[in-house]
Amino acid sequence: MSASLAAVSYIAATILFILSLGGLSNPESSRRGNLYGMIGMAIAVLATVFGPRVGPSGLAWIAVALVIGASIGLYLARTVKMTQMPELVAFMHSLVGLVAMIVGYASFIDPSASAGMSPAEASIHHIEIYVGVLIGAVTLSGSVIAFGKLSARITGKPVLLPGRHGLNLAGLLAVIWFGYAFVQAHSIEQGMMPIAVMSVIALAFGVHMVMAIGGADMPVVVSMLNSYSGWAAAATGFMLSNDLLIVTGALVGSSGAILSYIMCRAMNRNFLSVIAGGFGGEAKAPAKTPGGAQPAGEVVAISAQETAELLREAKSVVIVPGYGMAVAQAQHTVFEITKRLRDMGKTVRFGIHPVAGRMPGHMNVLLAEAKVPYDIVLEMDEINGDFPDTDVAMVIGANDIVNPSAQEDPSSPIAGMPVLEVWKAHTSVVMKRSMASGYAGVDNPLFYKENNRMLFGDAKKMLDEVLGALKG
Ligand code: TAP
Repeated sequence: MSASLAAVSYIAATILFILSLGGLSNPESSRRGNLYGMIGMAIAVLATVFGPRVGPSGLAWIAVALVIGASIGLYLARTVKMTQMPELVAFMHSLVGLVAMIVGYASFIDPSASAGMSPAEASIHHIEIYVGVLIGAVTLSGSVIAFGKLSARITGKPVLLPGRHGLNLAGLLAVIWFGYAFVQAHSIEQGMMPIAVMSVIALAFGVHMVMAIGGADMPVVVSMLNSYSGWAAAATGFMLSNDLLIVTGALVGSSGAILSYIMCRAMNRNFLSVIAGGFGGEAKAPAKTPGGAQPAGEVVAISAQETAELLREAKSVVIVPGYGMAVAQAQHTVFEITKRLRDMGKTVRFGIHPVAGRMPGHMNVLLAEAKVPYDIVLEMDEINGDFPDTDVAMVIGANDIVNPSAQEDPSSPIAGMPVLEVWKAHTSVVMKRSMASGYAGVDNPLFYKENNRMLFGDAKKMLDEVLGALKG
């Protein structure tokens, strides 16, 4: 493939990636968006593999790598459960970080990479390598820790070292100092020590940063690492002088940054304070105000039959799905119930919290898969005002996102986070297996409210029973 054809293909791929991002911003156009992305990626890979920079001897290596990578990808796509997607995404981010590091080291020790460069160009090349390895290392170790937290292999609570801000500052100063030494180095031997020390500091910083963030703040970490992986890819693009990689990395980096901002806004949190860490751990001393009382009283359990009765009598129903719906894979039964209730003339709508589940858009994906019409799926801000006029709010495997202590208890770790106000409905029914807390590890006073009922059991099994009772 000639250089000009490769360049045109890169431009086509870039346009397709931008169209893809545009399509993904809306559920109705998201399939099209995915298709654009896939076509763009296929063009990008073909133009790179058959482009002018890969000689015939390189093709065999690339073919082997493609077969290995595609087989692993195919295997994972077939076996990974929907509930494991967030941790899989975190794992993939770590691979982007690893690649940025490897490419950085390779372009540093490869004499041909900087052959014929003027001293100024060589310095810029060294800065690209240093920054690329730095971002790659933070992304790698941060994503591995996020993977561990999301898959519950390591504690979800923030782990805080004493004097952590001082440690981070010392790390930053050391990274700048070694960066200066790296750019000044005249040989590979001289440069190896600064870049190796920086790599260790950056890896430690990634671990430290993500370990310090916990509980309900994890959505911000997920989107932030998504953003970092984009910047790591862009840095790799600079090191390899590959324009498409720079553009694609910048697209991922900036959209991840925008997502982090949206997540923070959805949780009423300040981005910097999330990154500073420490949130989502143990609750502080309970507030002395009556509103801040710890949950107390009795919960009222209800059967599937009784839930069906409540639904039969209701005129308006709002369904609030959460992580438990994903675990139970109950979305199809939820839609069956929705159809049944709508056929009975009831108004049924869904209320979606921005951080419900374990990844951005988790609930929307599940509901779209079950073919729930988009027009009855509303965002938190759109539906919150309607709860007082709602007869039954059905909470399916959700917990933190319907926790009134976010509003009522200033000492709660989730204080200030906007939540779906299901307790304002005439009756709320919470479907879950036990009294266990949600991801943030916070007690939920909703369960003890007078107008709340608990339907204990696996969401899929319980909803099947509710559907059976509605049909009967
Ligand atoms: P959670 O607060 O985690 O609550 C889910 C509830 O589902 C649990 O309390 C669990 O109770 C129940 N459950 C689990 N399996 C079930 C099953 N098979 N059948 C019925 N119930 C089941 O979820 P949420 O309300 O969706 O809130 C999301 C939380 O995750 C927030 O704290 C959020 O910050 C965090 N988070 C979100 C993201 C993103 S990007 N969305 C990423 C990381 C973390 P039982 O065990 O008693 O059944």
